[in-house]
Amino acid sequence: MSAEPRVQPELRRMSVDDVDGVMRIEREAYDYPWTARIFEDCIRVGYDCRVLEMDGRQVGHCVLTLAAGEAHLLNLTVDPRWQGNGLGRFMVRRLFEYACSQAVEALFLEVRPSNVAAVQLYRSEGFEHIGTRPRYYPLPSGREDAWVLSRRCMAPAGA
Ligand SMILES: CC(C)(COP(=O)(O)OP(=O)(O)OC[C@H]1O[C@@H](n2cnc3c(N)ncnc32)[C@H](O)[C@@H]1OP(=O)(O)O)[C@@H](O)C(=O)NCCC(=O)NCCS
Repeated sequence: MSAEPRVQPELRRMSVDDVDGVMRIEREAYDYPWTARIFEDCIRVGYDCRVLEMDGRQVGHCVLTLAAGEAHLLNLTVDPRWQGNGLGRFMVRRLFEYACSQAVEALFLEVRPSNVAAVQLYRSEGFEHIGTRPRYYPLPSGREDAWVLSRRCMAPAGA
């Protein structure tokens, strides 16, 4: 079980001034990181882009979109030095609560099946595997499928 963070994390809105710090974490966390341009575009078009801070220090980030009654989690990243401390779960919970407060039906995301930590995290937070996008992610040689996971905000009436 991950230890509780000693300092309360804060999830605040991301600005373009944060992108250098976001990219430092992004490059360390992924073999195929997003580019600074992608984050800048997400901020510009009004996606919900957030920075995770511990004691004023940037330790993670996430990007969420809300449209047509659905929320999509496009990016969720914890600085490798801070992983395993409950911060990923903290962000997932906060984002799910926020998305559902915005009257969406469900939160969707894609994940590599080989990403054991992320799959475990999402499953333990109630996300279900609802589909597969074949050959979606790059690999050093070839491609890897994406699993599409979702969690509904409210159980259907009568369930
Ligand atoms: C996936 C990620 C966001 C998880 O964040 P984290 O802060 O390290 O995770 P937490 O400490 O909140 O752990 C939550 C749960 O995730 C799972 N988990 C975390 N690290 C794990 C590991 N190394 N192996 C297996 N499961 C793991 C566990 O179920 C854990 O719950 P537990 O501590 O009760 O066992 C983080 O590892 C990360 O940023 N990875 C690189 C980027 C990435 O893959 N993002 C997701 C893309 S879909």
